[in-house]
Amino acid sequence: MCGIVGYTGGREVCPILVDGLRRLEYRGYDSAGVAILSDERIEVCKATGKLSVLESVLIDNSPNGVLGIGHTRWATHGRPSDENAHPHSDCTGSIVVVHNGIIENYLPLKTQLIANGHKFVSETDTEVIAHLVEEAYQGDLAEAVRSTVLRLEGSFALAVICREQPDLIVAARRHSPLVVGLGENENFIASDVPAFLPYTKKVYFIDDDTLAIVKKSGVELRSLDGDPISKDVFEVTWNADMAERGGYEHFMLKEIHEQPTALRETMRGRLSSETADVTLEGLGLSHEDILKLNKIVMIACGTAYHAAMVGKYMIEGLVRIPVELDVASELRYRDPIIDNNTLALVISQSGETADTLAGMREAKRRGAKVLAITNVVGSSVAREADGVLYTYAGPEIAVASTKAYTTQLMVLSLVSLYLSRVRGTISTERDAQLRRALWYIPEQADLFLSEYQDIIGCADRYHNFAGFLYMGRGPNLASALEGALKIKEIAYIHAEGYAAGEMKHGPIAMIDPSMATVAIATKGRTYEKVLSNMQEVKARLGEIIAIASTHDTEIHSLADKVIHVPETEEMLSPILNALPLQLLAYYVAKFRGHEIDQPRNLAKSVTVE
Ligand code: G6P
Repeated sequence: MCGIVGYTGGREVCPILVDGLRRLEYRGYDSAGVAILSDERIEVCKATGKLSVLESVLIDNSPNGVLGIGHTRWATHGRPSDENAHPHSDCTGSIVVVHNGIIENYLPLKTQLIANGHKFVSETDTEVIAHLVEEAYQGDLAEAVRSTVLRLEGSFALAVICREQPDLIVAARRHSPLVVGLGENENFIASDVPAFLPYTKKVYFIDDDTLAIVKKSGVELRSLDGDPISKDVFEVTWNADMAERGGYEHFMLKEIHEQPTALRETMRGRLSSETADVTLEGLGLSHEDILKLNKIVMIACGTAYHAAMVGKYMIEGLVRIPVELDVASELRYRDPIIDNNTLALVISQSGETADTLAGMREAKRRGAKVLAITNVVGSSVAREADGVLYTYAGPEIAVASTKAYTTQLMVLSLVSLYLSRVRGTISTERDAQLRRALWYIPEQADLFLSEYQDIIGCADRYHNFAGFLYMGRGPNLASALEGALKIKEIAYIHAEGYAAGEMKHGPIAMIDPSMATVAIATKGRTYEKVLSNMQEVKARLGEIIAIASTHDTEIHSLADKVIHVPETEEMLSPILNALPLQLLAYYVAKFRGHEIDQPRNLAKSVTVE
């Protein structure tokens, strides 16, 4: 987490840095800061809290200059405070650093530096970098950063500037994202492409253990041995407007409404309505590979993990290959059974989540082939996997994931269909049914999002409830978990997602007038069972909100509120069921007056373990 930016060129740098940080604020918002080379001095300005606090400080006091670096922080080492905010300086204020990651050996380095006479002002791990560069600097910043980086353990994307070298930013990466933007007589560095999208779409995706020596006139890449590296320039297709709110009050609401388009884009070119073809370019698996598969291990965190749960249901149901499912932070420490015939299916919106990456590397090390589903072209997951299927959702800015989730489900549906064809586990009839259903999903999502007044009413009624229980079965157990996660993330209400059949083994004891139960009760194999579970809640005078299929009238006698969603195949229903759950969380959070896009304590891209 944390976001870094840097610019060198002919324009006034401060607004460019602040604008870049605004686009990276999803990565953390505990504090923000900039360092600007101004009249042969480096002016550092930083403030605790969101970027807006820094902006108000800069209104009267904006340093002038054409080169600078900036940072938005998600605190790991040291509480959010002005002292701990980046940028950090050496003893003389001549060398200044911003950093995203964790320097794991910072304590011994700090002890050594203090013994050498360095003065520290913060509790951060980052500050050691500034002092190490200070010690190593002998007139060549690139060399000083190179030798410093060799002493660092852990993860970093960092950028360093030096008073004595006024046209130079030296950046380096290991395990934390870093991109370089290539402009005309101006260049950029950042944690993520949207930071410089208004200025350039030409990008270098920097690899681990690489130095980027960035000047106004050009960019040079070097290995940590000092050897030059050549790299292809990548032209991104996202544009700056895609990372703007576009008239919506929050990114989250905009992104909820973008789902029909995102789903269509993700399906486009992969599922043909005319020829019945399923084409998965980039899959990275031959038919022979697919026939040999003995197991699929899915690796993901957070919302992507819930998508994986639905994926397990789809794949086992259609492809008949056993699927193991792990949150990435568990997989890597549990000695999983993985061999050459295992497929690791990695799901990550950002493609940069540290635990997911580590889990993926572990699976690869044990011989698995890796297929990634990600939203970010050029991300670490995308680059390291054997095959990549992109979710064409466009930039997702709100911390609470919405369109990334539903498009991940779309890709998983297509993968399941494709694998089941290759392995001959699907009948022609079932194949046609699923294709037809998939084809209508974007349209059904559009239909649902055109009118949802009842959800706003529901949110109004329940926003002061003390807790929410979400229950579902089959693929909609994942919907229950995802619904509960959404309301926790942005409304800060305690919520649990439960398998509806498990309610009587514990959670039902919590039913009282301050607890709302959200029952995911769309039509499917276990519909009647969910109705029975609702009866059990009702018998204890619990309040029930039901998510039900469009023409279901029976359910009204059991639920206090019913939200209807268009009917589809049960396997695909989590895609459409996600919409009311996202909107319910959004409006409950709104009624409670929360900052929806940047919930407390969270960050969108979790690049630390
Ligand atoms: C964070 C975000 C979640 C996201 C999770 C995994 O916790 O707040 O919204 O689901 O990371 O992120 P990924 O980028 O790997 O999908």
